[in-house]
Amino acid sequence: MSRKLSIFYIILLLFFGSSALFSPVTGDLSGDRQALLDFLNNITHPRSLAWNASSSVCATWSGVTCDRDGTRVTALHLPGASLIGQIPPGTISRLSELQILSLRSNGLRGPFPIDFLQLKKLKAISLSNNRFSGPLPSDYATWTNLTVLDLSRNRFNGSIPAGFANLTGLVSLNLAQNSFSGEIPDLNLPGLRRLNFSNNNLTGSIPKSLKRFGNSAFSGNNLVYENASPPVIPPKQKKKEKKGIYISKPAILAIAIGVCFVIFFLIAVLMVVCYVKRQRRPETETEPKPEKLRPAQKMPSEKEVSKLGKEKNIEDMEDKSEINRVVFFEGSNLAFNLEDLLIASAEFLGKGTFGMTYKAVLEDSKVIAVKRLKDVVVSRKDYKHQMEIVGNIKHKNVAPLRAYVCSKEEKLMVYDYYSRGSLSLLLHGKIGEEGHVPLNWETRLRFMIGVAKGLAHIHTQKLAHGNIKSSNVFMNSEDYGCISETGLAVLTNPATRANGSARRYRAPEATDTRRSTPESDVYGFGILMLETLTGRSSVDDLKEGIDLVVWVNEVIAKQWTGEVFDLELVQTPNVEAKLLQMLQLGTSCTARVPAKRPEMLKVVETLEEIERN
Ligand SMILES: *[C@@H]1O[C@H](CO)[C@@H](O)[C@H](O)[C@H]1NC(C)=O
Ligand SMILES: *[C@@H]1O[C@H](CO)[C@@H](O)[C@H](O)[C@H]1NC(C)=O
Ligand SMILES: *[C@@H]1O[C@H](CO)[C@@H](O)[C@H](O)[C@H]1NC(C)=O
Ligand SMILES: *[C@@H]1O[C@H](CO)[C@@H](O)[C@H](O)[C@H]1NC(C)=O
Ligand SMILES: *[C@@H]1O[C@H](CO)[C@@H](O)[C@H](O)[C@H]1NC(C)=O
Ligand SMILES: *[C@@H]1O[C@H](CO)[C@@H](O)[C@H](O)[C@H]1NC(C)=O
Ligand SMILES: *[C@@H]1O[C@H](CO)[C@@H](O)[C@H](O)[C@H]1NC(C)=O
Repeated sequence: MSRKLSIFYIILLLFFGSSALFSPVTGDLSGDRQALLDFLNNITHPRSLAWNASSSVCATWSGVTCDRDGTRVTALHLPGASLIGQIPPGTISRLSELQILSLRSNGLRGPFPIDFLQLKKLKAISLSNNRFSGPLPSDYATWTNLTVLDLSRNRFNGSIPAGFANLTGLVSLNLAQNSFSGEIPDLNLPGLRRLNFSNNNLTGSIPKSLKRFGNSAFSGNNLVYENASPPVIPPKQKKKEKKGIYISKPAILAIAIGVCFVIFFLIAVLMVVCYVKRQRRPETETEPKPEKLRPAQKMPSEKEVSKLGKEKNIEDMEDKSEINRVVFFEGSNLAFNLEDLLIASAEFLGKGTFGMTYKAVLEDSKVIAVKRLKDVVVSRKDYKHQMEIVGNIKHKNVAPLRAYVCSKEEKLMVYDYYSRGSLSLLLHGKIGEEGHVPLNWETRLRFMIGVAKGLAHIHTQKLAHGNIKSSNVFMNSEDYGCISETGLAVLTNPATRANGSARRYRAPEATDTRRSTPESDVYGFGILMLETLTGRSSVDDLKEGIDLVVWVNEVIAKQWTGEVFDLELVQTPNVEAKLLQMLQLGTSCTARVPAKRPEMLKVVETLEEIERN
């Protein structure tokens, strides 16, 4: 619980102080590097952290984040890094530009590392889930900018310091599951939004200034509750109380994680929007060149970020009746890495039919793709229902949906990231790219077989895909095609899908109704085959107004069949017969009359035959 909550804590930091994270600093990176090495060399760490003294701190050291210019270390995230023992003094505290420090879930012991108080830039610190013990220091005047303090799940004892009152910027304070005793000081911290003092050994009563957090924030102590009835609630909060103050633990967790996701993407989107604007580059449907958001790229102004973040935050926090949640599917181990998303560098991958896709690199180098759906027209219930269906399609030729987020504003989907890029990218190359290596016959055939199998499986589940196109097709670990974006077509407004390259794949009968059926999928697959065989780029053809089906049929009718194929294929020895077979299959899939198109199972059979012979 506290671990999950700490996700939330770190997120808070993003609203309440993202500004200085990117401010120019003067200082010494080699000093930071030495400080980190001194730390690591003097602490037991059975698991290697891969901090190679001869490689770049900012670029390669796991858990280390630098400022925009790569001149100083600003964040250190080492959650669950198997660090054991006492923190060597005078090491981490030398990282004078450090703003985020997460050492949660390690085996750290000893007293509170008092030299951390020298980290004047610190905005968030989590020592949660370690074995720190003894009393806390009394004076916090140096942590002027601290917003998040998480000391939960340790063995700290003594009283809660009244000096916390000097942490005027504090937004979140978690001291749960320690051995604090004595009375709770009257902490007048108006900005505090989250507080957890539960499971300690506190006595006395809850001070007035903290009553707004409710008794649940103080459970598991020896406190005297002045009132057996629910806590006094400021008038402003009364309304939402009615909606339900008694939120279950999973709901709180869900809200926290949901909020995290929402905010992260809000910020990411903002950055992307700003960046795209500045670059004035047109958005295209095929993957554009990946654009690094960080580091060393233009950021939205501080004002923009913090304003948006704050508004969003307040809105989400006050709307606790909303069931914001992220749902993970079996087989994904992402749950443990969600927090890392927040410091992950996000990269805009492309704008597709259903929204933007981003690539996020997690702390442990895991890479995921996150799709942010736009124009979702179905109810939340229907959305979730559809996600459950999609998430439970387990097939090696269907790109697995790892998780989804469903909140009021955001519908997000988490997929694996395919480093080789989509079929579209491999076939046509990046826009403006020179020296693109043409895709060979083998690979093209494997793409087709994979997609055909994936689609056939989807159809046996009584589903339709509804958005087949080459930018949705990737290569799985067995080097066969697999298809992404399954089942999204039913979620969004068909009108918004009327444009773009998706149109090229749409079956004639689906142009008006825009309903997806297995037959219209077969048509889309036929176009995909023709695209793969001819190597014609969907974007170029769209501009020229060429209908691939019409063009292919014209060329065939004129007996120039050879002209249809991509040069690379024509030059491949001994595949002429196979090419013709494929072309025939492609054209039969794109038959005008739906009933004349073969079923996907039949298509798979034919393709496998072609592969075997
Ligand atoms: C820690 O290890 C470094 C070597 O990296 C050494 O120079 C230093 O004296 C050790 N002790 C402390 C407290 O940093
Ligand atoms: C450290 O990195 C350098 C090059 O960056 C490499 O040659 C060396 O093998 C690496 N050392 C370790 C221990 O990984
Ligand atoms: C605290 O944050 C403010 C605003 O971001 C900044 O101007 C100030 O320098 C920070 N204080 C310290 C000690 O870093
Ligand atoms: C705190 O714990 C230490 C042992 O870790 C003990 O020696 C000390 O007396 C405790 N202090 C209080 C106030 O309980
Ligand atoms: C806050 O810090 C100042 C020193 O900067 C100190 O004089 C004051 O006592 C502190 N307040 C509390 C409540 O500890
Ligand atoms: C809690 O405090 C009481 C005295 O106030 C003490 O007797 C008891 O041992 C403490 N319990 C724990 C778990 O520290
Ligand atoms: C406080 O932390 C405990 C874990 O020690 C958790 O069970 C509880 O739900 C938390 N309460 C709130 C209000 O966050």
